[in-house]
Amino acid sequence: MRAAAIDRFGGPEVLKIHTLPVPSLDHGEVLIALDTAGVGIWDAEMRAGGGRKDFPLVLGTDGSGVIAAMGAEVRRFKIAEAVYSYSYDNPKGGFYAEYVAVDAHKVAPIPRGLDIHHAGAIPTTGLTAIQGLDDALQIKEDESLIIHGGSGGVGTLAIQFAKLRGARVFATASGEDGVALVRRLGADSAVDGHHGDIEAAARSFAPDGFPAMLALTGGDALERCLALVRSGGRVAYPNGVEPALRRRPGIRIIPYDAVPGVREFEHLGLAIEALKKLQVPIAAAFDLGDAAKAHERLEQGHVLGKIVLRIK
Ligand SMILES: NC(=O)c1ccc[n+]([C@@H]2O[C@H](COP(=O)([O-])OP(=O)(O)OC[C@H]3O[C@@H](n4cnc5c(N)ncnc54)[C@H](OP(=O)(O)O)[C@@H]3O)[C@@H](O)[C@H]2O)c1
Repeated sequence: MRAAAIDRFGGPEVLKIHTLPVPSLDHGEVLIALDTAGVGIWDAEMRAGGGRKDFPLVLGTDGSGVIAAMGAEVRRFKIAEAVYSYSYDNPKGGFYAEYVAVDAHKVAPIPRGLDIHHAGAIPTTGLTAIQGLDDALQIKEDESLIIHGGSGGVGTLAIQFAKLRGARVFATASGEDGVALVRRLGADSAVDGHHGDIEAAARSFAPDGFPAMLALTGGDALERCLALVRSGGRVAYPNGVEPALRRRPGIRIIPYDAVPGVREFEHLGLAIEALKKLQVPIAAAFDLGDAAKAHERLEQGHVLGKIVLRIK
């Protein structure tokens, strides 16, 4: 099969097309013939030296495709069924490939209302968004919520799920185009977190401060947003946001990781189907053979939504 893999750690240029054996299947695994793979900042970290040295290392933590084969113990799927999957640091190689072998528990049917191309963009970000809101923050109806970094992969989905839960959403976004995007996705109020007046916009939206925040990017603007969270409030962030948040008096800081699983994908799928039409902004799509270019684009920043690889 064709796969985009690295033989050493380094910049985007180390990602090259390889011809590799199709991964073998264990009893509890499925083989997915991939349609689309997600490209995330964590892939760039692995490429640069953040993980295993199993060269050649196929990158990619998530994607969509159809079931090509099933291990002897797998009963939940049918051949040719359309699925999506998230498996961080997948032991048998990642999703930048024509085929991936994944533990069947980390695979789910694509929810109604989502096509296979967009489904491949959201397993990691969708689980991260819904688990941040429902499990880490336990967001309630009518609560005012800051989504900081709302124009990125996780944020664009989190805004829609937070509206589904009935929250009042104040989003920070990157640039005026980012602000326009998050408003289109349903944010009740939005400000450019790089150049806008975060405090003034937040004060007019929630004069008494915010009880909750989902933090999707770090730095100075995050510190400014933290000051808007009132005493007794809670702040969740997925591990990977840098620098990691320090404890502060009166505020509960909740770091978390996205978890794939049968129950977890059911939870995500119910939210997607309840929305009827989840918007999945694709900032750029590249062929598998252009994976290095996809990483160059990722590292330029200002990605509104998600970058994907089209494989099929
Ligand atoms: N532990 C886990 O399970 C897990 C899973 C998924 C994601 N994560 C982590 O979660 C974080 C978010 O992931 P993601 O995929 O959504 O990343 P992303 O697409 O890079 O989103 C972050 C967004 O924040 C924006 N941003 C940066 N500074 C800002 C500011 N001052 N004001 C407003 N927006 C600002 C960025 O825009 P610009 O680039 O234009 O500045 C970008 O659009 C990452 O750190 C990732 O590693 C962790």
